[in-house]
This record gives sequence, C-alpha cells and structure tokens, in this order.
Amino acid sequence: MIDQLDSLGEASLKQIQSAGSVDAIEQIRVSVLGKKGSLSQVLRGLAQVSAEERPKIGSVANQWKARLETAIEEQKATLEAGQLEARIKNEKIDVTAPGLLPHQGRLHPLTATTRKIVKALERLGFDTALGPEAETEILNFDAINISADHPARDMHDTFFVNPGVVLRTHTSPVQMRTMQSQPWPVRVLCAGAVYRCDHDATHSPMFHQIEGLWVDQKVSMSDLKGVLSYLLKELFGPDAEIRMRPSYFPFVEPGVEVDVRAKGLFKGDGWIEILGAGLVHPELFKFAGYDIKKAQGFAFGIGVERVAMLLHKISDIRHFYQSDSRFLSQF
Ligand code: DAH
Repeated sequence: MIDQLDSLGEASLKQIQSAGSVDAIEQIRVSVLGKKGSLSQVLRGLAQVSAEERPKIGSVANQWKARLETAIEEQKATLEAGQLEARIKNEKIDVTAPGLLPHQGRLHPLTATTRKIVKALERLGFDTALGPEAETEILNFDAINISADHPARDMHDTFFVNPGVVLRTHTSPVQMRTMQSQPWPVRVLCAGAVYRCDHDATHSPMFHQIEGLWVDQKVSMSDLKGVLSYLLKELFGPDAEIRMRPSYFPFVEPGVEVDVRAKGLFKGDGWIEILGAGLVHPELFKFAGYDIKKAQGFAFGIGVERVAMLLHKISDIRHFYQSDSRFLSQF
C-alpha cells in the first residue's frame, strides 16, 4: 500500500508542477485530495490493514497530503505571479495620450438668440412677462383690434383648440394681458412659442416671437427707432443700420416693417426685413382702460427663428426642431 501511495504521490506531484493554469491545479487538487479523490480512495483500503501497519501507512499518506498541498500552493503562486507579470507587460497606460473630453451640453440656438435679445432689452429697463400658448380668441384677435371679419385673421392660419380658444398666432395678446393687469408706465417683453398652420423651409407650425411693449407719457416713433436700432446693433454688430417702411398691423397706427442692413448679413441691396412694429393703436388702450389722451406707446414683434437664421446663416427652419446633434453642436 505504501508503494501505491508513493506512486500516486509522485505522479500527482509531476502533474501539479507541470500544470499550466490555476484552474488546472484546482482540478488536480479535487481529483487527488478531494473527498472522492484518488488519495482518499487508497486510504479507504486502510480498514483491511493490520493494526501495526496502519499508523505507518497513515503517516505516509499524511506526508503525501502535506507535500501535495504545499506543491499546489507553490505552483499556484508561481502561476499567479506569471499572470500578473503578463498583465503588467500587456496593459500599458499611455499617460501622454490625449484625454477624452466629457460631452458638453450647450444652449439651443433659439434659446441663445432669445436670451441675447432679452438681455439687450433688459438693459433698457424692460421686464419680462408670460402668457398662455392656448389663448382666448378674444385676446389673440378682437382685443387687439382684429375683429371677426378682419382680413388679417386669414393671414394667421389659426389652430383652434376649442370654440373661443386658439393656439396663439403671435405674442401680441400678451400686450393686452399686461395692460389689463397693470397701470402704465409699462415696459415689458414677452418671449414664447406661437403657432400657425404653415409648413415649409422658412415656416414652421410652431415658432417663436419676442413681443415688446413700451407705454408712457410721451413715447414716439423716434423712441421706437432708437430702441430698435440699439437692439439690432447688439444683434448684428455696431455697423447695423435700420430702415422703417410703412406697413399695416391692426394693433398699431402707424405701423412699420423694419429692415436691417449690416456687413456680411445679406447680399442684394443689403436690406432685409426683420420685424414689425408701430405705435400702439388707441383701440388697445381703450380695451385696456388706459386714458387714450395721456398714454402713448410703441410695440414690436420679432421672430426668433428669423434672427437666428440670419445670425448663423441657416437656410432651413426645420433644422431647429430635429434635435440633430450634428446641427446643434455647431453653436
Ligand atoms: N404680431 C405680429 C405678427 O405676428 C408682429 C407684430 C407686428 C407685433 C407689429 C407688434 C407690432 O407688436 O407692433 O406678425
């Protein structure tokens, strides 16, 4: 039996020392020293051995067990050291390689343009106001001098929400909301989404406007021109010039369309229409309860998309709404 143990021990020792991986060693350990392993099987024969022989054989078996266990630990340590060595060799970190920048979010060009306009006008003392996007037909039209049979209503391709409620077609109703809620003097801006049933490369069914309203004791066209030429210089550069052309909007009298000309802005004769404006129509003051003999004011409405398209030379309005990061990351 001792011979049997010795030859099993020698053979197992060789196997252990030539094992190529920690997994392989573990398999050998189980197959030799495990409960059902070969060493345990040999020791099961111990019952048939005489009482004097038994301790001898037992001690040989224990010696083998200890030797094999030590060999297993040694070989494991060697293999693990080798693995570590290999990893250190293979896994190189190049500390001189350029780092990866975290993705940085930025403002949407419409948000940035809105803020630019609002910031510039806030310096002149304008407050900001908000109005609902689902607006009453009265405030969107009637209260600001666009009566039910007024042809201007057709220009506005309105979305109706309920009878009497529309998606506001412009920010102008906020003029009336403001005047109804506070006495003059008033200097207020309203930036927000507006809706019209219209869709092509330069029209979107939802777009953005900024409305301005200034009411005080003596407010004239020249004040309007001063404010707008300041604003357009802030937007398009100090050499920007403005020009006013007579036009018609029901809520102002006189009404003007304002053109701007600046270096590099536009080809042709250089003038490009940028916004509508005028002196507040007395009908609006009457509706709001302001004294039409004392209050004077001007109002203007500017399209945010139009300004952003001019500033960044964007040719299709639909780019603003497609959330394409290739487009948005340029700003
Ligand atoms: N509400 C007009 C529009 O949507 C723009 C506008 C024109 C606003 C003249 C004004 C204004 O306040 O005075 O087309």
